[in-house]
Amino acid sequence: MENLTVIVLAAGGGTRMKSKTMKVLHPVAGRSMIGHVLRAVQAVEPERIVVVVGNQREQVGPHITSLVPDALLAVQETQDGTGDAVRVALDAAAAAGPVTGTVLVSAGDTPLLRGESLREFAADHAASGRAVSILTGRVRNPFGYGRIVRDADGSVLAIVEEKDASAAEREIDEINSGILAFDADFLRSALPRLSNDNANGEYYLTDTVKIAREDGLTVGGHLIDDVTETEGANDRAQLAELGRQMNARIVTAWMKEGVTVMDPATTWIEDDVVLERDVTILPNTQLLGATVVREDAVIGPDTSLKDCEVGVGARVLRTHAELAVVGESATVGPFSYLRPGTQVGRSGKVGAFVEAKNAVLGDGAKVPHLSYVGDATIGEGTNIGAGTIFANYDGVNKHHTVVGAHARTGSNNTFIAPVTIGDGAATGGGTVVREDVPPGALAVPGAKQRVIEDWVLERRRGTKQADAASRAHQVTGEVTGDSDGSE
Ligand code: UD1
Ligand code: CA
Repeated sequence: MENLTVIVLAAGGGTRMKSKTMKVLHPVAGRSMIGHVLRAVQAVEPERIVVVVGNQREQVGPHITSLVPDALLAVQETQDGTGDAVRVALDAAAAAGPVTGTVLVSAGDTPLLRGESLREFAADHAASGRAVSILTGRVRNPFGYGRIVRDADGSVLAIVEEKDASAAEREIDEINSGILAFDADFLRSALPRLSNDNANGEYYLTDTVKIAREDGLTVGGHLIDDVTETEGANDRAQLAELGRQMNARIVTAWMKEGVTVMDPATTWIEDDVVLERDVTILPNTQLLGATVVREDAVIGPDTSLKDCEVGVGARVLRTHAELAVVGESATVGPFSYLRPGTQVGRSGKVGAFVEAKNAVLGDGAKVPHLSYVGDATIGEGTNIGAGTIFANYDGVNKHHTVVGAHARTGSNNTFIAPVTIGDGAATGGGTVVREDVPPGALAVPGAKQRVIEDWVLERRRGTKQADAASRAHQVTGEVTGDSDGSE
């Protein structure tokens, strides 16, 4: 919108969060609260955005700049009230160029606010020619909010803060959302006229309403449909509630796009996640960060994917994964742990109790059971036997293992990296592979198995183990040892 300046107030400390992290930096659905607000503000395409930051500006400032590089940061040294904060913002904006037209003021802790609602409000204000417009809401419990005092014909007379309100004013259920729009010239003239003669000893931005009335200018209220959009989080309980509402909004939006979500209440989808049609999400699933899930894939139950890509028709079951890629039609889980750099090939498999890290598996390659695959490249069509450890760490450095295509390795192998197993090679059960295995070769454990006949019968007399051995000998007629005669 042309001729629009947006001021976001974020200087308040947020003491009720009881956190070393500033309030507006706390995340909701994977994005900071201020990040959500800035996104809504950007959707209105204002000429400039000014963010008021306070004494923790070294935490908040860089975060804001990383999200909106051309946002102006205005520093409010002491939190003397919303009116003072807007004065600081206007001074900073004026230093960068003349401020005319509309000034929209919003808080930094209302993550559910939609860009569309802000745009409607700003457009309504600009068209109305009013000095002040207030985005208002009707709430069941107005406690703590500024109340909208209207006269008999409905025009707004004042906003009265909780602590300054009379008993009758406290009954009013129409509240100030904290989002206001001003004519820039009026705002400039009104701010120096604010007083801090009130219960909080603060300069209230909301007192501009009375000033406008005294100046004979018009003030209007614009009732928002969904008042939850303007809800802020002051403590962790409210943060969780806003998170739940944001999640419900995201999950519902994906269902409308053709995603099946069996249990929306236990499905958590962050804001940047992308899902394709006919994806199915089963209960207790978290899709986080920049995760992308392609068509027909089935995720869950009990799965967390962060920054992962899951291919068309893949199946990911009871899995914890981060920065991993799962190929088309591949299967992962149950109980798999995919760490960063894992790539499962098309139609490949990572099965139960398998941990993988920095491991690239070719198309159709399988690691079905009970294995650790660290720092490895596995060729297409290869099968890794159950209980295999890719021993990548020598205690000082990490090393890489290469297994070629269509190899078959036996159960309970250990690959001591760096080592290469060639295409089409094989290994026997229990092999500790310390040297390269050429293509097509078979590697088996070096030492021949020693068998010490009747060791148990002699050394474990009187045990159930010895009894069992004894009975086995009688069945086969090969009694070679002398048990304790327990027959
Ligand atoms: C404010 C409004 C109230 C409204 C409510 C909606 C005033 C006087 N009151 O009350 O009418 O119903 O919001 O939530 O405006 N801030 C600064 N600097 C300051 C003080 C506040 O940047 O000196 C920022 C805060 O970080 C916050 C916003 O301004 O983002 C609102 O401040 P807060 O103290 O929460 O105001 P409320 O008492 O909730
Ligand atoms: Ca507040």
